[in-house]
Amino acid sequence: MACRDLHEFMTALEEAGELKRIAEPVSPVLEIAEISHRVVKKGGPALLFTNVSGYGTPVLTNILGNRRRVEMSLGAGPEVVAGRLASLLQLPASPAGLVDKIRALPRLAELASFFPRVVRRGPCQEVVADDFSLEALPVLQCWPRDAGRFITLPLVFTRDPDTGARNVGMYRLQVYDSRTTGMHWHRHKDGAAIFSRYRERQQRMEVAVALGADPVTIYAATAPLPPGMDELLLAGFLRQEPVELVRCRTVDLEVPAHAEIVLEGYVEPGEERLEGPFGDHTGYYSPADMYPVFHVTCLTRRREPVYPATVVGRPPMEDAFLGEITERVFLPLIKMQLPEVVDMHLPAEGVFHNLAVVAIRKSYPGQARKVMHALWGLGQMMFTKVIAVVDADVDVHDLAEVRWRVLANMDPQQDLVVTAGPLDALEHASPVPGYGGHLGIDATRKLPEEGHPRPWPEEITMSAEITRRVNEKWSRLGLE
Ligand SMILES: Cc1cc2nc3c(=O)[nH]c(=O)nc-3n(C[C@H](O)[C@H](O)[C@H](O)COP(=O)(O)O)c2cc1C
Repeated sequence: MACRDLHEFMTALEEAGELKRIAEPVSPVLEIAEISHRVVKKGGPALLFTNVSGYGTPVLTNILGNRRRVEMSLGAGPEVVAGRLASLLQLPASPAGLVDKIRALPRLAELASFFPRVVRRGPCQEVVADDFSLEALPVLQCWPRDAGRFITLPLVFTRDPDTGARNVGMYRLQVYDSRTTGMHWHRHKDGAAIFSRYRERQQRMEVAVALGADPVTIYAATAPLPPGMDELLLAGFLRQEPVELVRCRTVDLEVPAHAEIVLEGYVEPGEERLEGPFGDHTGYYSPADMYPVFHVTCLTRRREPVYPATVVGRPPMEDAFLGEITERVFLPLIKMQLPEVVDMHLPAEGVFHNLAVVAIRKSYPGQARKVMHALWGLGQMMFTKVIAVVDADVDVHDLAEVRWRVLANMDPQQDLVVTAGPLDALEHASPVPGYGGHLGIDATRKLPEEGHPRPWPEEITMSAEITRRVNEKWSRLGLE
């Protein structure tokens, strides 16, 4: 059963020894971040700070900060969930015959049952406040040189003015004062693209921000879905239950009924303000830059909400686990486009966009290069600074094996593809922001047509017969 909200999830976590309550007085300025950081680095529990100095609202951190909690939120390992998605994707694109159509029906019906559902009432509107102040929320300052306090786990809801489609993204919000924040959507993200359409019309854009929802919906806000695809349908599919929504009180948007706190308001075309610096998930401060401003005009909340937050910094931090869900869940979608792809790994040190290791079943010359270019053309994979392509028999999750294979199998003169393209807005090594170098490494076995006329060497393995004989003797050798 999917968790309905953070409270149900906290109960389940507590029962499993995956949540620790901290009653010691702590400051939201740096202290909570330092404690959360130390705990997540050790794979420790989620933390509920019940005594936040100067604030009545508890702070919840590290919700999805280890593998076990991710599995608890999804009700299964990310691989299992990805397998379900893969089987759904086997639907024929256009069922040809009657048999195809009949076979597709149950799965289509299953998908339809995961669409979000609007309900009349939800706990996120138990209190509707006009006289609120954002400064009354226990918003964290995470690192010493941060420009201030940042809401770090917000689900930002907007609507495409042309299609009416909903978008949900996670973009940090720097709290400027009691009613305004920054809106840090990077220029490549759907949130920014939708805003540009309002800007063209010189029209104010309504925005709603949900703080806290069930943990899968929180994850879904970070998922790199193609424009126009509803993140809440993905959430419904992953949790196997639709997300319940309520209509906002003052804007024409819906938000998760089981959120903790909702901020309603607008972003005005033409208005920008300096945002940052902020200690980011790259492990460096992202510099101050101009971003739109979010004006909050109404705050709704539960009677007794918790304030959820994440702390990012030198990897791996909690977001590495969100990235792992994306890696698994999006693999079947990548395989649809690139059937030769067998597996893919985005190591935490690469913070999603710096390194992808991709294993392919290679059958023709140039195929590794084709895969690199295809990935650089695929949604947010466009940011990937380094793509290493290896053969199907390489375990991409074993980085020691990857290092061995890549170093052994690539010739620096022949097998490196150096090109340029868009880069993540947080990339700091490129001379200019958002654009710069990409490196592809073809570490697959080379074919003669790829300029490698000599035979590829045979890999060393022990014969099956000797392996069997030594296995038989093994327990008698006293080497265990
Ligand atoms: C904890 C966390 C914080 C994030 N903060 C930002 C951010 O401030 N700005 C941004 O553009 N993306 C941020 N992201 C990544 C986006 O949420 C992600 O790229 C998402 O797919 C964007 O959605 P969109 O393309 O629908 O706009 C963050 C991701 C995580 C996990």
